[in-house]
Amino acid sequence: MSFEGGTLPADAVRGMFDRIAPVYDAMNRVMTAGLDQRWRRITVAEAVREGDRVLDACCGTGDLAIAAQKRGAEVTGLDFSEAMLVRARKKAPGIEWVQGDMLALPFEAGSFDAITVGFGVRNVTDLEAGLLELRRVLRPGGRVGILEITTPRGWLRPFYRLWFDRVVPLLGKVLPGGDAYTYLPASVRRFPPPAELSGLLERNGFAAVRFRLFAGGIVALHVGDAR
Ligand SMILES: C[S@@+](CC[C@H](N)C(=O)[O-])C[C@H]1O[C@@H](n2cnc3c(N)ncnc32)[C@H](O)[C@@H]1O
Repeated sequence: MSFEGGTLPADAVRGMFDRIAPVYDAMNRVMTAGLDQRWRRITVAEAVREGDRVLDACCGTGDLAIAAQKRGAEVTGLDFSEAMLVRARKKAPGIEWVQGDMLALPFEAGSFDAITVGFGVRNVTDLEAGLLELRRVLRPGGRVGILEITTPRGWLRPFYRLWFDRVVPLLGKVLPGGDAYTYLPASVRRFPPPAELSGLLERNGFAAVRFRLFAGGIVALHVGDAR
């Protein structure tokens, strides 16, 4: 299967995450030099308050949901990959883990005070529909925190291209589900840059959208309030 366009049908995305689940956490630590957990903690600090009902959508193996729980929130993690959820359940049996699709969330409107999504929205087949669905299950005034890989501008860009387009796919060749690491750079390339994502959030039910960049602009955190 070719990943050049970075778009895949939902079933193929789910199958890919099912396959890489055993190495997912280790790959995260290697690819980010261990910074990914710090970015998750900052996401939670900006979007989640103690006592909030929080949805962590596209929760994967659960690290962002666990960070929200540590902040004193009541957390539900949702993902469509059962293999990722198996790992999340092992790490934190006390969190409610739900198998489901971010494009058709199995929750009533206004169910949550905050939603976090870590490295997830890039994979959703219809980004605007996904943002609208997040907005639907947030109460008015609730917060969304979206942590996502993005393409840096400036001097870092050539190093980033080398790392992401050459080294990461190479790593993937020796790991189970390695095709995911060809898909990863392609999916980042087609994802809207930070200012554009802010506009999309504003047009799909969110206000006061702001973003900050990490690691020289490789990762962006967008935070917004549900209108
Ligand atoms: C790169 S992982 C991120 C996992 C986790 N949030 C983290 O911070 O590491 C992306 C996750 O999104 C999930 N995912 C992608 N599209 C989805 C959708 N439409 N509905 C639910 N989960 C989805 C995948 O199964 C995968 O576990």
